[in-house]
Amino acid sequence: MSEQSERAGANGAGQGAHATERAGGAAGAKPPGPYKVVVVGMGKRGMHHATAFQANDRFELVGLCDIDQKRVDDAAGKLGVALKGTDAAAIARVAKPDVFCFCTLPSIRTSMIEIGIASGAKLIAMEKPVALTSAEGFTVRDLVAKSGIKVVVSHQHRYGQHYQKVGEVVASGALGRINTVYATATGWMMHMLSHLIEYSRWYAGNPDAEWVMAQAAGRSKFGDVHPSPDYIAGFVHYANGVHGVIECGAGAPDVPEADAWWRKCRIGAQGTDGFAEVLTGGGWRAVTKTGSSSGPGSMNYDLDMPPYIQDIAGWLDGTRVHPCNFDGAYKGFEIMMAFCRSVAEGGQIALPLTTPADEIALLTRAVADRKVRFGMAGSAKEYQA
Ligand SMILES: NC(=O)c1ccc[n+]([C@@H]2O[C@H](COP(=O)([O-])OP(=O)(O)OC[C@H]3O[C@@H](n4cnc5c(N)ncnc54)[C@H](O)[C@@H]3O)[C@@H](O)[C@H]2O)c1
Repeated sequence: MSEQSERAGANGAGQGAHATERAGGAAGAKPPGPYKVVVVGMGKRGMHHATAFQANDRFELVGLCDIDQKRVDDAAGKLGVALKGTDAAAIARVAKPDVFCFCTLPSIRTSMIEIGIASGAKLIAMEKPVALTSAEGFTVRDLVAKSGIKVVVSHQHRYGQHYQKVGEVVASGALGRINTVYATATGWMMHMLSHLIEYSRWYAGNPDAEWVMAQAAGRSKFGDVHPSPDYIAGFVHYANGVHGVIECGAGAPDVPEADAWWRKCRIGAQGTDGFAEVLTGGGWRAVTKTGSSSGPGSMNYDLDMPPYIQDIAGWLDGTRVHPCNFDGAYKGFEIMMAFCRSVAEGGQIALPLTTPADEIALLTRAVADRKVRFGMAGSAKEYQA
């Protein structure tokens, strides 16, 4: 399966229904746009997004917002954007953007989706995770479905050359029949788990999940802005028979080859004829019937954001569905929420989820008050030992 067909194949109904769209106009005609963009939340990721939109001539950055006046002033000065403010709805009303992008912390999702839809934008670009709870995730999903708006969720690591290379090895068939996908990260759940699921599900062929089972330990990150158990691990059974094995947080193993603690992630696929895996901060490697191979690569926002943003133009043009579309992200989000429910309720959890819940509250009640144990000594400084 080529990267192109993988991308088309990544989409189910709903958001994926746009897969058949084609850009209008004669060959060589000027492309549509530039598409007007508003970016809300001028922290780390908001600046990454705003900078990448501004650098792409298919887009025009027309408005910026942050509740922190100094932050939005500094960003507007740096990026040379005149329309700025602390009220996202007001900025969106004035700007009438084609793309409403928000990069606020995970606690703010529904209100931003509502503002994006009300603004008349054709596409919302949001940060992961989809939400903190299934209750909010259901609301977001229903708003997106009802409005028909296109949504992309920023799992942009997949653009890394090493992530792509593993995708190519899997798609080439060189691993034979894929039976297992796996993913580990030392960073905690609300930061890292949706990334691990997104990419391991990609290597599994983007199947639906049928059930999960998980366990968790450690309470020191429940008060974090990315509220999480310190360590969560579990299994995913996919409809195509592939099994996923995922570990996220304090107990996850070291990836000695990685160049930074946050990049100690290993995501791969095993098949009947070999394996291939990406190390977020340490390149890729594969062993197949014909021998072993490896190559470089480390997660790099400067390299990953431009193609991620370019694919937003492609989806708006109607040439192809964005690989980070909401349908795929939502399926991963449900797997994450099902992990949490398995921790709280015990046993296997069937997917799709049918009833809303507050998974963080469930976890806070369920996770034992015992110190977490570490998978590598270097994780102790990131968690309260
Ligand atoms: N995709 C990735 O690789 C990646 C990496 C890091 C973080 N993230 C995600 O990006 C999101 C943002 O993370 P960050 O590190 O940029 O956070 P940040 O704290 O640096 O920035 C968030 C900004 O949002 C602003 N904000 C909060 N409420 C607002 C509101 N109602 N209106 C306008 N602005 C508001 C804050 O003042 C702050 O400036 C999170 O969901 C995080 O999980 C993704």
